[in-house]
Amino acid sequence: MGSFDDTVARLKAAAEPTRLRILRLLLNGEFNVKDLTQLLGQSQPRVSRHIKLLAEAGLIERYQEGSWVFVRGSADPAVRKFAGSALSMIAGSDPQILRDRERADQIRSRRAALAQAYFDENAAEWDRIRSLHIAEHDVEEAILAALGTGPRDLLLDLGTGTGRILELASGRARQLVGIDSNREMLKCARVRLDEAGLTNCSVRLADIYNLPFAEKSADTVLVHQVLHFLDNPRAALAEAARVLKPGGRLVIVDFAPHNLEFLREEQAHVRLGFASAEIACWLGECGIGSGGYRELPAEAGKENALTVAIWTGERSKTAAKQWRAAS
Ligand SMILES: C[S@@+](CC[C@H](N)C(=O)[O-])C[C@H]1O[C@@H](n2cnc3c(N)ncnc32)[C@H](O)[C@@H]1O
Repeated sequence: MGSFDDTVARLKAAAEPTRLRILRLLLNGEFNVKDLTQLLGQSQPRVSRHIKLLAEAGLIERYQEGSWVFVRGSADPAVRKFAGSALSMIAGSDPQILRDRERADQIRSRRAALAQAYFDENAAEWDRIRSLHIAEHDVEEAILAALGTGPRDLLLDLGTGTGRILELASGRARQLVGIDSNREMLKCARVRLDEAGLTNCSVRLADIYNLPFAEKSADTVLVHQVLHFLDNPRAALAEAARVLKPGGRLVIVDFAPHNLEFLREEQAHVRLGFASAEIACWLGECGIGSGGYRELPAEAGKENALTVAIWTGERSKTAAKQWRAAS
């Protein structure tokens, strides 16, 4: 619940066509301001002014990361409820809404295509690239510790790439399935699994945002060095939570915040790492209770070394909350 004054401020901020469109787009994901400017077909100063007004009213959040500014809907449940109920009065078939959705899909597809092209070109080299910034041995030990030793039936590795994590975790579940949207990466993964004779591991071509698994079907879900490539990491975590059994474990491995901006150009990174609280907040929103957070400091003396962060969580026994306020 908000105060009378807060409610008036929110209504005033949202009561303008472009701002209402922005609010709708941001409730369902985040954008960087450059992409949003293209989507809306308006100049950057105009879009920035709209963003400022929406942010001042607490309807959206914006944050700078390197040279990119990201915007997204407020995480505050009261604000999301307010915005969701206002937006629910617009027909889903409204031409403006449909156009915005189509443009948002185009922009996301274009960004995803850039990442796919990068992985197409670098699949054979990925194992070497991965080791450039991290102390691999330490990270792998920490992943095994985070997975725990309990008997598991099904383990899913989202964005499995060349399948190294499947190989690493192969003894920790009866069946392990890696999913990835890149065929070149999956070719490498299949060779690796064949060569290692890991008959309990397999890979599938699929999208992290739309997993081909039933609700509550997996005991463990791993997301290793994938979130920073995604334009909507929060939605990917919500989908991971959907397929986890109550009590099932989610392990996320990514970078802590860093400033190696060149990774955006050279390696298709979208996010320059994640703050521990940001991921913890998303996990809470999708019904994953925090089980722990650990950082593995950057390797001393290594050029462009990065700190690796590991989040562990368990899916609560009650239903996962939906973070989406409008669709
Ligand atoms: C940096 S690689 C990490 C691979 C592996 N987890 C590892 O650490 O070696 C990221 C992987 O995520 C995959 N990926 C990116 N977006 C995806 C999506 N929407 N659905 C499925 N896989 C995706 C890429 O194709 C790529 O193989």
